[in-house]
Amino acid sequence: MNSKNEVTIEISNHKCSGCGLCLTVCPSETITIVNGKAKITGNSSLGCGHCMAICPESAIKVHAIHENSLTFNTFDLDKKWLPYGGADIENLAHIIASRRSCRNFKSKPVEKEIIEDLVKLGQLAPSGSNCQKWTFTCLTSREQIVQFAFAIGEFYKKLNRMAKNPFLRHGLRLFGKTDLNQYYENYYDKVNQAIYEMEHNDKDMLFHGAPACIVIASEPDASCPADDALLATQNILLSAHTMGIGTCLIGFAVKAIELDKKIQKTIRIPLDETVYSVIALGYPNEKYCYITGRKKAIERYY
Ligand SMILES: Cc1cc2nc3c(=O)[nH]c(=O)nc-3n(C[C@H](O)[C@H](O)[C@H](O)COP(=O)(O)O)c2cc1C
Ligand code: SF4
Repeated sequence: MNSKNEVTIEISNHKCSGCGLCLTVCPSETITIVNGKAKITGNSSLGCGHCMAICPESAIKVHAIHENSLTFNTFDLDKKWLPYGGADIENLAHIIASRRSCRNFKSKPVEKEIIEDLVKLGQLAPSGSNCQKWTFTCLTSREQIVQFAFAIGEFYKKLNRMAKNPFLRHGLRLFGKTDLNQYYENYYDKVNQAIYEMEHNDKDMLFHGAPACIVIASEPDASCPADDALLATQNILLSAHTMGIGTCLIGFAVKAIELDKKIQKTIRIPLDETVYSVIALGYPNEKYCYITGRKKAIERYY
């Protein structure tokens, strides 16, 4: 995707019937009808593909769209657009409600074909200004994850040493900085135990023994980097469930990277990228009987 909103649309004059449909859906006013044919008159385009999707004559090609972005390794995707109301909400709701965070993984590796498909499905999420400045870094072996986990563990060892110091906690509190004290109260013991288990019992309480992991980050100057990355994340979580793969978001890893950016160098993510989600994934070693539900949220209807 070009970052400067360059126009990469090509319209076949010969195929265009001049119906004008493409104009009605273009968010950048890139196209107008000139002498009964669609013409590119604007000098910018989001590259979103609305015009290409709506054209009944297949007269439009948006070159910014990668030709393989809808080709998957493990299934075939119907290229016909599913109309509004054209899918079964019972099925979709069942998938949404059945996805659970998986914390018991089999050691069986996840095939690269599946991980590649998940990454592509992530990229079908919306993004601010369609900038798609997300990056997907995939760890596909247990060894890579253990190495990543140890780098994160080193960070938490340092944090726990600081949090253990009552003078530091209370001193910071006097200056209105309550984060370290809150961390101490909520996480200190749990993190200490996780570090102990990792170092002495080879037990992975951070990634739950997952054999694979997808880290989603954004390049600099994306318009809504966090939103984009998290929307792609949810696509991956739901898709993985339907493909027989369990997932768990690892917020402890994201926090560690946020506070000590050089951790991302251990998985070769450039320092100018910002990490927004770390998804552990693998074949699940657990099975549920029922879907449950959620706490009561504050809802307002006006
Ligand atoms: C931003 C975020 C960070 C999370 N971090 C962790 C984590 O570090 N470790 C973990 O085991 N689960 C983590 N989770 C999973 C939540 O605990 C889980 O989503 C929640 O308990 C609801 O359960 P469910 O995902 O099974 O519906 C995280 C979830 C979110 C949304
Ligand atoms: S939608 Fe297709 S056929 Fe209709 S005006 Fe646009 S390019 Fe021409």
